[in-house]
Amino acid sequence: MSSTIMKKSGNHLLKLNFVQLFLCFLCFCNANDLNIRCSDIEKKALLDFKESLTDPFGRLSSWVGEDCCQWHGISCNSETGQVTKLDLRNSLQTNKAAQKKSALRGKINSSLLNLKNLRYLDLSMNNFEGSPIPQLIGSLRTLSYLNLSYAELGGTIPPHLGNLSNLQYLDLHSYSDSGSKFNATDLLWLRGLPSLEYLDMGGADLSAVTDWLQQVNVLPSLSELYLSSCKLPTFPFFLPFVNFTSLVAVDMSNNLFNSPMPRWIFNITGLKSFFLSSNNLIGTIPSAFANMHSLQHLDLSHQFLEGTIPGILGNLSNLKSLTLAFNNLSGNLIEFADGLSKQNSLEVLDLTQNRFSGHLPDALGNLTNLRSLVLRGNMFWGSIPESIRLFSSLQHLSLFGNPMNGSIPESIGQLSQLVVLDFGQTAWRGTISEQHFSN
Ligand SMILES: *[C@@H]1O[C@H](CO)[C@@H](O)[C@H](O)[C@H]1NC(C)=O
Ligand SMILES: *[C@@H]1O[C@H](CO)[C@@H](O)[C@H](O)[C@H]1NC(C)=O
Ligand SMILES: *[C@@H]1O[C@H](CO)[C@@H](O)[C@H](O)[C@H]1NC(C)=O
Ligand SMILES: *[C@@H]1O[C@H](CO)[C@@H](O)[C@H](O)[C@H]1NC(C)=O
Ligand SMILES: *[C@@H]1O[C@H](CO)[C@@H](O)[C@H](O)[C@H]1NC(C)=O
Ligand SMILES: *[C@@H]1O[C@H](CO)[C@@H](O)[C@H](O)[C@H]1NC(C)=O
Ligand SMILES: *[C@@H]1O[C@H](CO)[C@@H](O)[C@H](O)[C@H]1NC(C)=O
Ligand SMILES: *[C@@H]1O[C@H](CO)[C@@H](O)[C@H](O)[C@H]1NC(C)=O
Ligand SMILES: *[C@@H]1O[C@H](CO)[C@@H](O)[C@H](O)[C@H]1NC(C)=O
Ligand SMILES: *[C@@H]1O[C@H](CO)[C@@H](O)[C@H](O)[C@H]1NC(C)=O
Repeated sequence: MSSTIMKKSGNHLLKLNFVQLFLCFLCFCNANDLNIRCSDIEKKALLDFKESLTDPFGRLSSWVGEDCCQWHGISCNSETGQVTKLDLRNSLQTNKAAQKKSALRGKINSSLLNLKNLRYLDLSMNNFEGSPIPQLIGSLRTLSYLNLSYAELGGTIPPHLGNLSNLQYLDLHSYSDSGSKFNATDLLWLRGLPSLEYLDMGGADLSAVTDWLQQVNVLPSLSELYLSSCKLPTFPFFLPFVNFTSLVAVDMSNNLFNSPMPRWIFNITGLKSFFLSSNNLIGTIPSAFANMHSLQHLDLSHQFLEGTIPGILGNLSNLKSLTLAFNNLSGNLIEFADGLSKQNSLEVLDLTQNRFSGHLPDALGNLTNLRSLVLRGNMFWGSIPESIRLFSSLQHLSLFGNPMNGSIPESIGQLSQLVVLDFGQTAWRGTISEQHFSN
């Protein structure tokens, strides 16, 4: 009996070994690229591409030899040897001046069209000397990632990009101070990109695209939308139907919006980051922010907003940073701070240069995660609450330019993480002792 069992399990072991051996053989072949390497056509295409560039830092010096899959910046499909990725992002240097020197310069050669399986193309931070995006890029049908940001490309964005029906990431961000700028008269080509999840056209001149919103609202998979410094002329108040409800991050700062905040925004309930600074928004902060349960970062600075902070902003349980600097907001912080102290998620609060008034609520002291509290240039008065010692994470505290006419509690000496303390142009009473600086 026991010997049969032994025999059975022995057989089983043997079979397993054969299978394992066979698998190992396959692995061995792949790992060593015994017969899988790039085709001559693709190698030639890459060499022609290299030929059209100047490369002062020798970043493409590894582009020699038979197997282009081994070259810097190239990845291939491990089964077919086809080039799938070309990543020539110029990110070796950290500062802009050094980066300029290591940039590849020249033209994007049409030989790229011979890379029939290219999924990922990153030419960011190089220097194509103001030339337009070649229309041929629209023929790289297999692309799912295209990054041409900060590459000194310019001119009209070719509608041919709308042929890239597999595209998930499109990054065309440019330096706002750069001579070369993208522009467009319409964005109708976005219709061809139903899988797009990430769109950044920051810095492009879109002032001629009057119905930009309808033209962007065709992207049902979009999760990140970056249109900062695009001269967008209006923030349309009406939108019949919100298509891009999966948005989680929106940056539309520094455009030319001069209207109240539209209501359709509040249907995008999964939004986590919302940056709208430096527009000319008017009106009040809508209490419809109550819908945005996921909101983590909200920046509405540099507008003409009036009225109070709606208490509801304090009730948002994921809120980490709130920036309302440079508006015309007024009222006290009592209801707002009360909500905040129950959530205790806030890390950064910047209310610089508004007309807020009243005394600082005790509840502020319960914000143990707060790192930065900047209340410069308001009309707060009275004392700093004793509870301030509870702000255990506080690094930056500014009350500059407020008529603070009470006293500074010794408990301020407990703020052991403090780096910046700005109490200038205030009206404090009382004395300062060593205790104030104890920790
Ligand atoms: C592409 O490369 C080939 C071979 O080096 C060259 O003949 C052709 O002029 C280049 N085309 C462009 C647009 O640079
Ligand atoms: C594109 O490249 C830039 C600069 O190299 C980088 O900061 C950015 O995150 C990239 N975009 C995407 C979508 O990966
Ligand atoms: C777009 O940029 C190009 C090149 O700078 C320029 O010739 C063209 O007039 C611009 N078009 C628009 C609509 O701004
Ligand atoms: C690509 O897009 C352009 C402009 O939208 C269009 O004229 C052209 O026919 C398209 N090319 C192909 C091969 O579909
Ligand atoms: C929503 O997006 C889909 C897919 O792109 C599109 O067919 C539809 O027309 C869009 N709806 C509106 C109202 O724009
Ligand atoms: C916003 O959502 C509400 C409720 O789900 C819906 O009735 C309304 O039509 C939506 N509005 C827009 C502009 O999509
Ligand atoms: C905030 O939440 C509290 C309960 O936690 C509630 O009493 C209060 O009404 C809410 N404030 C607003 C403005 O909705
Ligand atoms: C701020 O609002 C007050 C009224 O609340 C108004 O008198 C004042 O003109 C506004 N200031 C600016 C710069 O809009
Ligand atoms: C602040 O915390 C203290 C104790 O930790 C608690 O008694 C008080 O109710 C809290 N205040 C608010 C406004 O939540
Ligand atoms: C501080 O200023 C406020 C508002 O101007 C005033 O009501 C209060 O009496 C002042 N307190 C002291 C101690 O001067």
